[in-house]
Amino acid sequence: MRLAILTSGGDCPGLNAVIRAVVRTATDHYQYECVGIKNGWKGAAVGDIIPLPPLSVSGILYRGGTILGTSRFNPLKDGETTARILENLTLHRIGAVICVGGDGTLRASHEIARMGVNVVGVPKTIDNDIQATDVTFGFHTAVQIVTDAIDRLHSTAESHNRIMILETMGRNTGWIALSAGLAGGADLILIPERPFSYDKICAMLTERHKRKSFSIVVVAEGAYPEGGEAVNIGALDAFGRPRLGGIGFELAHEIEMRTSIEARVTVLGYVQRGGTPVAFDRILATRFGVAAVEAVAAGKFDHFIALRGEELVAVPIADGVGQCKQVDDKLFEVAELFFG
Ligand code: F6P
Repeated sequence: MRLAILTSGGDCPGLNAVIRAVVRTATDHYQYECVGIKNGWKGAAVGDIIPLPPLSVSGILYRGGTILGTSRFNPLKDGETTARILENLTLHRIGAVICVGGDGTLRASHEIARMGVNVVGVPKTIDNDIQATDVTFGFHTAVQIVTDAIDRLHSTAESHNRIMILETMGRNTGWIALSAGLAGGADLILIPERPFSYDKICAMLTERHKRKSFSIVVVAEGAYPEGGEAVNIGALDAFGRPRLGGIGFELAHEIEMRTSIEARVTVLGYVQRGGTPVAFDRILATRFGVAAVEAVAAGKFDHFIALRGEELVAVPIADGVGQCKQVDDKLFEVAELFFG
């Protein structure tokens, strides 16, 4: 059988580890022939499909990004595009497709599966917001990068008597901000799940600066004040979702106005998605890749791989997407103990 793999949506440390695991498992253990679809579903629409012999995945385990390229391309954007995708998959005699992507990609992949394509999904996002799985690969790497940044911000914050605001990724959920904030000892963490009050946070910071000379505030890009909304840059992505960013600067402005304490902003942006995955993510990505090929071999199509405790399970795609996994309340309560 010819097995295709594609990576779609925002990139994420560990994608190459999945590709390597899929190719090695599929060729060494199942004698499948592997091909790579370039740039997510976009490559399927234009027939950009390349051979993936085992040698092509040698030395990529630790590399960030994806050797196949990725895009935020909606395969269902119009009937003509979808028809071209189906035609190209037939033309290239592709028996099954492993789709590595976030919620948007998985949802679209489910629709493609309903059109008769044998699809198995692998969930991916640094945001860790996919409901059906305990964790996604890439998340721990992002948390480590943000934690390192908080450690560095501490010394400069202390020297200058400032409030340092660190804006992280996290469109719908605050997993990265919360986890890294906890690991880095943030004095305040603001996340989309908990709209904040300027009155309360400014009172808290004013009080803190009577005892301490600096504060570290970690804010997820999707966080917003009570009665307000997330700050967006005025553009939509291919799935019609607003592109977020800028809450850090809004916060700094408002806090300076209200408290007269100097505030500075660091936006980590794409640094959180770049570079080598930490060991945990390499292992999880490898396990996901192996399990995805096993699901193909077992004919478990229109399913995606999820981690439940120590086990990997195949979940129907339709049951596992569409709803964001919000941060654990208990974890937030632990972080809150250290606010102020
Ligand atoms: O991968 C998800 C994410 O990290 C979001 O937190 C963020 O809003 C988004 O990617 C931005 O990515 P891009 O600019 O590539 O669409």
